[in-house]
Amino acid sequence: MKIIIINGPNLNLLGKREPEVYGSQTFEDFFSELQGQFKDVQLEYFQSNVEGELISKLHEVGFSYDGIILNAAAYTHTSVGLGDAVKAIQTPVVEVHISNTHKREEYRHTSFISSGAKGVILGFGLQSYVLAIQSF
Ligand code: DQA
Repeated sequence: MKIIIINGPNLNLLGKREPEVYGSQTFEDFFSELQGQFKDVQLEYFQSNVEGELISKLHEVGFSYDGIILNAAAYTHTSVGLGDAVKAIQTPVVEVHISNTHKREEYRHTSFISSGAKGVILGFGLQSYVLAIQSF
């Protein structure tokens, strides 16, 4: 099974960025743990701060991979383009967030991704990604 984790803007700063919200582990460290935990899964990881690059990555993997785990970060709440891309591809997308966005500012309560997603997992810290992999 081939699954890719796609992370959006500012998630490259995990570990340093608002640790009280996002924790103190870098994603690279966490990703190594995931690879150890899911040895039977071909796991890949892509991160970009650029909206168009995220859309292009969805197009690239969205007709051949078995699953996509997408944390579009702030673009979740703003990007019609990313939402359309999720609907345009064939590979199922699980939307993930580290924090419980519904407990936070109102502008984080809207998602342009959810209506095209297979499911949504949020609020469990980095464990949200583990639950997403298990869902495939
Ligand atoms: C986030 C939540 C978003 O609102 C925020 O912009 C992020 C991270 C999360 O994983 O909790 O950058 O997607």
